[in-house]
Amino acid sequence: MKTLTIRRPDDWHLHLRDGAMLEGVIGDTSRNFARAIIMPNLVPPVVTTADARAYRERIMAALPKGHRFEPLMTLYLTEETDPADVQRGKESGLITAVKLYPAGATTNSHGGVRDMDKAMGVLERMAKIGLPLCVHGEVTTPEVDIFDREAVFIETVLDPLRRRLPELKVTMEHVTTKDGVDYIISSRTNLAGSITTHHLIINRNAILVGGIKPHYYCLPVAKREDHRLALRAAATSGDPRFFLGTDSAPHVDPLKECACGCAGIYTSINTVSCLAHVFEEEGALDRLEAFTSLNGPAWYGLAPNEERITLVRREAPISFPKKIETGAGPVTVFDPMFPLHWEGADA
Ligand code: DOR
Ligand code: ZN
Repeated sequence: MKTLTIRRPDDWHLHLRDGAMLEGVIGDTSRNFARAIIMPNLVPPVVTTADARAYRERIMAALPKGHRFEPLMTLYLTEETDPADVQRGKESGLITAVKLYPAGATTNSHGGVRDMDKAMGVLERMAKIGLPLCVHGEVTTPEVDIFDREAVFIETVLDPLRRRLPELKVTMEHVTTKDGVDYIISSRTNLAGSITTHHLIINRNAILVGGIKPHYYCLPVAKREDHRLALRAAATSGDPRFFLGTDSAPHVDPLKECACGCAGIYTSINTVSCLAHVFEEEGALDRLEAFTSLNGPAWYGLAPNEERITLVRREAPISFPKKIETGAGPVTVFDPMFPLHWEGADA
């Protein structure tokens, strides 16, 4: 029997939502991960440290009994964000990062930033105090093809921002293109990237071939196969600039399976099994721990988890539920389209 013991993973990009959905999904994360960076795109968004403190309390209150889990809170950057509030949030230990959503880029992003100049005050403060900026790296201009949004963002927003403020630490979240991988590899300092589980597994065919498949639709949208291969190479390389951010983003099925379905894929429950499969396929099981448990904390200046988990490779495929039931409604679980054999179990 093959086993693999690694430090307990963290998730450096997660949507937990609120209320009944939060209660329905948090156990899947806290069973598998010690910590997660919590996205602030609630309705209304988490914009002040007071909002983040209250949201953190709701998360801790929803945690199943006996689970230990540390939510790492973020603020949703707006053109009105107060640099002093951000600094207080960082100094109190509450705030781990600030999130930039270009206005209109994705779910609940209409309050995001339209004019980067208007956010420069707070970005300068973040650079000074060493608070990372997490970016949803897509432009939203209607002229730009949706499959090119990431590459155009790098050229027209991210690179100019990093030239203007080289001291700012930037996490390019959910990298989906070879352009993103190459940009991160080519920059020497202050840039890292998170990669989702699903972008290592699907390309755009999963969404469109044989009928439209809303449960494979997310943003940034999955790209061509050569991009997926570049992401796989980056994730399994051991390069400390790449780490796991699942972007697990639950929506109830009626909001996915409709004429204008929401973006988001729910992977918290089977991410560890899926990743072990991917890393085994790539002959890189010895680098799984770097991706899930070492590179992320090093980037965010945190100690890696001391606790270990042991994954066991079962001969027979293991199964996960096709859907989870939450108080908000059913949520379909990511189907990797291959049988899973790696089972997570506590060491
Ligand atoms: O697919 C996505 N879903 N991408 C995002 O950036 C947001 C997320 C959500 O909140 O549903
Ligand atoms: Zn996200």
